Amino acid sequence: MQGKQVTIFGGSGFIGRSLVQRFAREGAIIRVPVRNPDHALFLKTMGHVGQITLLKINPYNKQEIEACCADSEIVINLIGILYEKGSSTFKRIHIDLAETIAKSAAQKGVKRLLHMSALSAEPTSKSVYAITKSQGEQAVLKAYPQATIFRPSLVFGPHDHFFNRFSEISRFSPVLPLIGSGKIRLQPAYVEDVVEAMMTAAKQPESQGKIYELGGPKIYSFKELFEFMLKIIHLNRLLLPLPYLIAKIIGFFGEFLPTPPLTRDQVKLLEKDNILNKGSLTFRDLGIVPSALESILPRYLSRYKIKI
Ligand SMILES: NC(=O)c1ccc[n+]([C@@H]2O[C@H](COP(=O)([O-])OP(=O)(O)OC[C@H]3O[C@@H](n4cnc5c(N)ncnc54)[C@H](OP(=O)(O)O)[C@@H]3O)[C@@H](O)[C@H]2O)c1
Repeated sequence: MQGKQVTIFGGSGFIGRSLVQRFAREGAIIRVPVRNPDHALFLKTMGHVGQITLLKINPYNKQEIEACCADSEIVINLIGILYEKGSSTFKRIHIDLAETIAKSAAQKGVKRLLHMSALSAEPTSKSVYAITKSQGEQAVLKAYPQATIFRPSLVFGPHDHFFNRFSEISRFSPVLPLIGSGKIRLQPAYVEDVVEAMMTAAKQPESQGKIYELGGPKIYSFKELFEFMLKIIHLNRLLLPLPYLIAKIIGFFGEFLPTPPLTRDQVKLLEKDNILNKGSLTFRDLGIVPSALESILPRYLSRYKIKI
């Protein structure tokens, strides 16, 4: 990667920050297009002076996206949303923007395009998030057939949105909601493994045009994940089953908040298992042995332990 120009859309997010750090360590010259560079300044410290450049962009301006892809050997798209807000709709972000990035990469002669989708991506899902992630994949492959696509299950790591959020909630709430009684199953993947998979794929021409499903070594129910999290932070909390209908009603009201804690679409996502499909390409096809949740989670959740 030494000296290679890499453009990482979505580099300011949870997975993005680890990816930027990983590419910086390998000596890549990195561009991170963002809406607000001031909010992404922390990325600059991950490389030496001049190695990481933040570019202010309007993500809906095709010329700006094209300019970001110019002279890049590798373009990576990690941009994604979990709920719609204002002009940021699922269609605009997961399909239109993904397509614009793929078309721009093709037009600018970019050698590799890595696209981040999600394990839930399915054309027939009840969730608009999942449908648009699937349609986004199709749009990307149409514009850039050699793109490599990644579909992770829930991703965990020191800056994750799941365990950190629910650990924080557990500190002050005596109850944690188990949507749909917490039976759905997930296969959490460690962020550093996800990043390693992307780095490895970027170096392997054989990964072009392929889809990798990324999940950890074990499958857990939603309830088991909460129980394990509570054990690490030494808290006893009531895990209260919440029927889907009630969760959707809460989601309806949540959608009025600036940062919705839950939306109806997210509840629909939680109606289906989020585990690897049989026969899919996985970490192991990239030579990666995925890390166990048990060995990583205590390292960063211990900060939520209540000190007595
Ligand atoms: N985390 C998981 O468990 C998980 C699981 C499966 C798939 N994924 C997928 O992995 C990707 C990265 O996830 P993440 O957890 O790292 O997400 P994240 O922390 O929320 O980061 C999302 C990134 O997208 C950018 N973004 C959001 N809305 C945007 C908009 N309207 N215009 C331009 N940029 C926008 C954000 O930029 P700003 O800094 O400007 O907000 C940020 O860099 C997403 O595509 C997600 O769907 C994640």
